[in-house]
Amino acid sequence: MKNKNEKSPIRIVGSYISDHFGELWDKSLNDLIEEAVLGVIKSVSDKKNFDPEEIEAVYVANMASGIFNNQLHLNAVVSELFKHFPPSIRVEGACASGSLAMIAAQDSLNSGRFKTVMVLGVEKMTDFNSNEATKVLSAASDYNFEYGSTFPALYALLAKAHMHKYGTTREHLSAVSVKNHRHALTNPKAHFKKSFTLEQVSESSMVADPLRLLDCSPVSDGASAVILSTKNSGKLLSNKKVASDKISYKNKPKIIGFGHAQDSLSLANRKSLTSLNATISASKEAYKQAGLTPKDIKVAEVHDCFTIAEILAIEDLGFFKKGTGGQATLDGETTFGGKVLINPSGGLKACGHPVGATGVKQVAYLADLLENGFEVGDGKSKKIQNFKYALTHNVGGSGATVVVHILEK
Ligand code: COA
Repeated sequence: MKNKNEKSPIRIVGSYISDHFGELWDKSLNDLIEEAVLGVIKSVSDKKNFDPEEIEAVYVANMASGIFNNQLHLNAVVSELFKHFPPSIRVEGACASGSLAMIAAQDSLNSGRFKTVMVLGVEKMTDFNSNEATKVLSAASDYNFEYGSTFPALYALLAKAHMHKYGTTREHLSAVSVKNHRHALTNPKAHFKKSFTLEQVSESSMVADPLRLLDCSPVSDGASAVILSTKNSGKLLSNKKVASDKISYKNKPKIIGFGHAQDSLSLANRKSLTSLNATISASKEAYKQAGLTPKDIKVAEVHDCFTIAEILAIEDLGFFKKGTGGQATLDGETTFGGKVLINPSGGLKACGHPVGATGVKQVAYLADLLENGFEVGDGKSKKIQNFKYALTHNVGGSGATVVVHILEK
């Protein structure tokens, strides 16, 4: 029997990723938000409609809609899509906004204030050209120390330091991009559905030495949402709009651990340029809460805003020894059949990076993968590959904010 003080697990009972990430010129910020709200409600049950009044609160993640779309007060924009106007809060933490909103939502569930909440991430960036978008994004670096730096330039410094210390090569960086673009071919929601060779990546146009066009995540539009609940079941609506039926949450994936760590905003004040120390700290806490080690994780969505960021992530999360992440990627250890499947969605690099949506998308993608498995096959014979655990890793800026979540089937 359950101990009275024992907390109910938080389950991911619905998940949705907008169709698709990319340059969505025919969709407004509000269209993306509405699509995610309707999509995630529909995802809870494929038989009958989930009752929207089950949603007691909404946490909205977004970085810069005030600049990109001249629309602030997003919590109100989301809440008014529901007849019952649930309380709603907006969370901002640069590219980690999504996972920070997840944590805020989890706290509200763990405290007992709410039992079922929605987390929605959104960013509509492509109405600005790349130069303008780059300037907006650079506000997430240290304005005083790093004035004028772009994120490609800051991650280029991290790449140079890693190359210098560990002998990481141009080919290692390219291998990350080739793999993630190949993975994105299996994801209908991805921004890019095109594969590249190592040579094409290595010879793409220079952005900030050594990072080239195909080392960078793109500027994308998109939204994603999940519904989290501590209940054992949720209400469904009958045709007469009377709550009649229930859906069991028993088989929905649950959050079994998370960690959140911070480091200095500026690279100049960091202890290391070849590790993100916040990733190390956040993942240690997440593994501890989950009672797992890196060896138990066979699939992860990590924050590959630039190819070097994925190499740092897979080392700092403990999947590979420091300095060996690039070679492991080139050797096929991070794709299907390798040691740990990294970024099956295509990651930020190829699935896209609408910054406020990314942290929620990582959770939504992996919750769906845990629930339904991953279809692998050559077109003739198909089989489902199942996973027991999955890990998400979401980074704000150049590593000042990091959140890691561990999910269980
Ligand atoms: N990866 C692959 N292809 C890309 C791409 C990327 N990151 N960015 C753009 N493209 C493609 C476009 O689809 C377009 O292809 P087409 O000619 O076939 O239509 C072509 O490259 C040119 O696109 P454009 O928008 O003119 O590129 P750009 O040079 O203005 O911008 C970057 C490219 C890399 C500078 C921009 O994507 C960028 O700033 N990315 C980083 C975003 C960022 O910092 N995010 C936060 C991380 S912390």
